[in-house]
Order: sequence, then C-alpha cells, then structure tokens
Amino acid sequence: MILKQGSLYTLKGESFCYQIKVDKHGKLLHTYAGSLIDGDASSLFSLKDRGFSGSDYEEGLERTYSYDYLPMEIGEVNRGDFRTPGIIIRDEKMITASDFRFSSDRIYSGIPSISPLPNLYGEAETLELTLKDECSGNILILSYSLISDAILTSRRLIAGEDIEVCKLASLSFDITYGDYDLITFAGRHCFERIPERTKITHQDISITSRRGASSHQVNPFAIICGTDTDETHGSCFGMHLLWSSSFRLDVGKSQYGATRINFSMLDESMGYKLKAGEELQLPAALLTYSDEGLSGLSLKCSDIIRAHAVRKAELEVENPVLLNSWEACYFNFSGEDLIALAEEASSIGADLFVLDDGWFGSRNDDLSSLGDWNTNESKLGMSLTELAMKIKSKGMLFGLWVEPEMINEDSDLYRKHPDWALTIPGRKPMRSRYQLVLDLSREDVTDYLLNTLTQILTDTPIDYIKWDMNRSLSDIASATTDADKIIYKYEINLYRILESLRMRFPSVLIEGCAGGGGRFDLGMLCYTPQIWLSDNTDAIDRIQIQAGSSYGYPISSFGSHLSVCPNHQDGRITPLVTRSSIAMLGTYGFELNPRVFTNEEKQLLREEVRFYKENADILKNGDFYRIRLDNDIAVFLSVSKDRCKAVLIAVNLSIHGNDVDKYVKLRGLDSSKLYKLSGGKAASGSFLMNAGLLITFKPGEYSSQRITLIAEK
Ligand code: GLA
Repeated sequence: MILKQGSLYTLKGESFCYQIKVDKHGKLLHTYAGSLIDGDASSLFSLKDRGFSGSDYEEGLERTYSYDYLPMEIGEVNRGDFRTPGIIIRDEKMITASDFRFSSDRIYSGIPSISPLPNLYGEAETLELTLKDECSGNILILSYSLISDAILTSRRLIAGEDIEVCKLASLSFDITYGDYDLITFAGRHCFERIPERTKITHQDISITSRRGASSHQVNPFAIICGTDTDETHGSCFGMHLLWSSSFRLDVGKSQYGATRINFSMLDESMGYKLKAGEELQLPAALLTYSDEGLSGLSLKCSDIIRAHAVRKAELEVENPVLLNSWEACYFNFSGEDLIALAEEASSIGADLFVLDDGWFGSRNDDLSSLGDWNTNESKLGMSLTELAMKIKSKGMLFGLWVEPEMINEDSDLYRKHPDWALTIPGRKPMRSRYQLVLDLSREDVTDYLLNTLTQILTDTPIDYIKWDMNRSLSDIASATTDADKIIYKYEINLYRILESLRMRFPSVLIEGCAGGGGRFDLGMLCYTPQIWLSDNTDAIDRIQIQAGSSYGYPISSFGSHLSVCPNHQDGRITPLVTRSSIAMLGTYGFELNPRVFTNEEKQLLREEVRFYKENADILKNGDFYRIRLDNDIAVFLSVSKDRCKAVLIAVNLSIHGNDVDKYVKLRGLDSSKLYKLSGGKAASGSFLMNAGLLITFKPGEYSSQRITLIAEK
C-alpha cells in the first residue's frame, strides 16, 4: 500500500516500510526505512544551529534547518550538503551543482517500463515523484515500486540544458541514526562472493567494479545491518543493482551519525553528456528488508528474484540435469567423441548435453576464432545440426557454448572489421586470454551478433545456450560511439540481444557465465535464469562460494556441477556423494566424462540423479537455510514451502581422533509437525529446531550426510 498524507509518502509492504517527505522547501527528505510504523518519522529529526552547516536561503535568518544534517532521499552537491552525493551534474561552464525540488507526484499500479534495461515484473504499486531544478530546467523522476514487500527504484533524468551527468545513484537514502555494518561479497576468479563484514564509520567505504562487468571481485549486492544482526536475529537491508557492468556503492556515516548509502553505475565511467531535452534512464535497484536476521533477508531476496526477476525458459524437461563437455574434454574432441560422451551422459541420467568451447572457426585452443561462429566441420566431422540431431536422437536435449561479446585478432571477423574491437586510437589494446572485446556500443556490431545467434538457433535444434564472457573490459574507446556513452550503450545492447533471443526463442534456456561467476548479478538474472556460479568445481570451495552467493540470490540460479577427482582446479580429493550433494545446492549437472567411473559409481550417479529429480522442487523452490558453516562442518537445509518436506546436506570439514560431537539446530520447520528422517529416526519440528540434531559422519575426509525429512500426515 502507498499512503499519501499531505507531503508524507509511506510505502508499506507486509513487513517493510519506506517513508519520504517533501519538506517545506520542496526537498525530498528520507524519513524512515525499516519495520512497519505508523506516523511521521521526521519527528525524530533534531533541528539545531550546527556549525559550518549552511541553511536553505528561504530560511532567512533561521540557522537550524540544514541539508548537511537532514536525512535526504538523494544527496546533492555544492548546495550545502557536504556528504557523499548521489547526483553530480556539471553544466557547460563546468559548474557542478543541482537543486532538485518537488514538482509533482503520481501513484499508479504497475512498474514503470525502463526497457531495454533489466527490470522486475509482476504486480506492484508505484510512487513517482518528479523533481525540478528551476535554475537549469533539469528534471529528475524518481520511481518507487512496492513489489512483494520490497522496493524497486528507478530514476530518469531529463536535461533542461546541455549537461554532463557525472553520477546518478539508482538507490540512495540516509538512515537517521544508529550503528550499522556493511556486508559485501568479495572474491576473485574461482573464489567468488565471500562475505566481508565491516563496521560503517565516518570513513567512507566505496565498493567498486571498474571491469565493465559486475565482476568476480565485488558484487552489486550488499547488506546493511545492525551491528548485532546475525543469521537469525536483527534487522537488515539488502540492496541489488540491476546492472551487470561497472558500479559503485558508497557507504559512510555523517558527522551526526546518519548512515548514507549511494548505489550507482560507476561514476568514473560516466560523464554522460545530455543535450537539452535528452534523457538518461538509470538502472533499477532493489531494496529488501528483514527483521529476522540475514537468513530472513536471504529468503526474501530468493522469493522476489524467483517470482519477479527470473523468466523461466519453456524447456521440454523440467529441472534438466546437464552434462557439460568442458572439463570432460576441453578443446579436444571430434563429433563422434561428443556423441559417445552424450551417450555416457544419458546413461547416468543427464537430460541435456552441452557442447562447450572449441566447436567453431579453427579453435583448438584459446588463441583464435572468437567472432567466427561457423562450425568447424572438419574437426567435428559433421555439421552442428547433424551433431545436434544425433545427440537429440539419444533422447537428450542439446546445448551450445558461445562467447559473443569477444573477438580474437586471429579471426576472420577481426581481419574484416578490426575497428569492431574496443581500442584506443594510437594505442595497442590490452589482451586478456588472447582476446579483445567487441564494441557492443555500436548498433552494427549488435545487429551482427543478434543475426548470427538467431541464425544458429534457427538452423540447429538448440535447447540451451551458455553465454560466456571471459575478460574484463579495458581500452574503452570506440570507432563510432562517443566515449561517454560506450559503457552504457554496450550494456543496453547486451540486454537488447538477450531479450530479443528470449522473446524469439522462449524455449531456449540461456545460462549466463563470465569465467564462472564474473557477471553474477540481478541484471543478468532477468535474462538468464541460471548463471555458472564459478569456474571452481571443487565441492569444498564451492561450499563457501555457494553459501556466500546465497545471501542475496536463490540457489535455483546457481549453475553447479559435479566434477572428477582429483579436482581440476585444486587437486582435492572428495567423496563422490559429497561432490554430488554440494552440486545439488544449485542446478545440478556434470562436468566430467562418465567413462572414468566404475559401473558401481555409475549406478550411484544414477541414484543421485533420481534423488535430485525427486527433490528438485524443494531444493530449487523451497526455503534455503545456512544452518551452520564453520571450520568443522557445513550444514544446509532446504524446506518445502508447505514445510512438509526438507533436505539437509552436511559436510564434515575437519576430522580428528576422538572428535567432539557435531550438533545443529534446524530452522524453518513446522514446530508442531512430526518429521520422519531418512535413516529411521523421527522427531518433532520443535525438537529439531530447539533441542537440535546430532550429525554423525563416516570416517574419512569430507564425508557427508544427506537427510530427508518428511512430515507425518
Ligand atoms: C570459461 C567458462 C568455462 C568454460 C571456458 C571455455 O572459463 O567459465 O566454464 O566454458 O570458459 O573456454
């Protein structure tokens, strides 16, 4: 519900409330965000004469009303608020200033269209506030859509004169008082999204990706929480930017103890020029809230992403188990090898065979051919369509790897169009994995890619695409696009291609990937329902990566596969069932050649697939809990929405002689229900959640337990 009481706007969800007030001078104050309240939270503001904090001119000789103190909806620059701004606009004379004041409001049903930027869908109510800067004529439109107990924001700027937009936050607000922590998700290639918790102090914190992708190193999801908030208790805000390129999150405490948050596209890569009358639509952001700890926040994020962001592909098979050829054979295969591999995959229960890198141009290593999306028939010994048909005749779906945004210098495409790669005139471009980046800011390049991919999907019966992106962007300069527009146009053209393919081929499942999880964000999830979570397939490392990613994203979106031992990334040896169980906390699949297994192991894998299929609905659509994760043990629990079934997965992370017992208390069950546990025991929900459960393991490193819980009728 969105309430307007005079100049006070209150957006009330089931348990989350966000309040904005237009003050006596037309400025937007952020009065409150948190658990439900009635009343005007601006009564908490304390107006005082504060040294070196200027006042609005309209205040005359009154010195207590200062925008340097008041909690703002968006901080501006050069007009008396000296905190980190959410908007920076420069005019033609290089004067940096803005002063947006209320002009009009509108409350309506639905979510504003911001196409071609990614957006949520579904029922919502929207508050639109239009602000005007009288001096420049610039107009700023702020939209707040109340959707499923969360707030989706979007912002649009219309230039009243020729300007340069140096920064414009998609989400910004000040929290009036209190001590908070910031949790961000840091990492590196093969070790993404590990939570880092920092106290918010008077020192500004800035989390930034400059890579032209949301990146392995940081993630455009972050949490602000009370200093005493933990997994099960306390309040917390989740913030997602629906943007897959460079970004910046600024958080800091003001001199008077207010916490300021600004979440935006990266200002360093902006400097976006607008002529009078032109407009700029900023990416959307999602603000979620929970007063039931980090676990409560994760549940909310998962629910909203599954219901309002992800668009499921209309595949023939639900929850397909896939086998990907990459770790099975890398670049070394013939068509017959692939058919044999697909047969093996089918024999262990996989539904979808994915041909990874190496099928096109003359690509036998990563030195050449990106850009030449024509089948290497001499390598395959057949056309792609023939291969797909042969694999499909075995009863399998067929999937294909592509990396459309990239180009190798050793490719026909580069030889024909060297100017299609991002390159700074007069400088040699930086190579990464021997490849350059295609200039997607250009319409001709975008059209070429869309046509090429459409042709492949039309000519060949393809059920799945793995859309990869294996380097960060540098040398951001274009032969045709103005430098200030390159990053923005690149990104919207990427989204445009993905959306066009999704509309034209609704039954094709597109899995995102960027060297694993280098572009795992809510923007991409609007087009690719699942994303290969990490190039690291080691189950024990994956525990950290999957747990970290689960704070802000549903496990149903985690591309996750079982691979061989010793693991190809780190050489670790882990029991087969443990590897399988961890892969089940995701989309489940294989990254291996089943030929390496004994008949008993293959039988075991068939049973694992059967277990996954039986429980896929709980695992993918249920409530996921991080029950315990420390140096000794990792325990995860997925509970069906009706709380009648649950799957518990536990991995022993430390072994010692005469070891101490390992206990956990479960969560999310129905206390009044009696649950039968696989293995024969039974216990009530209240017992399991309050007294707990003793987890025992077979001897040996990284052994695991998988327990199903079924409520008695
Ligand atoms: C990236 C992906 C891998 C694989 C290779 C192929 O690294 O993340 O899964 O597809 O590219 O080159």
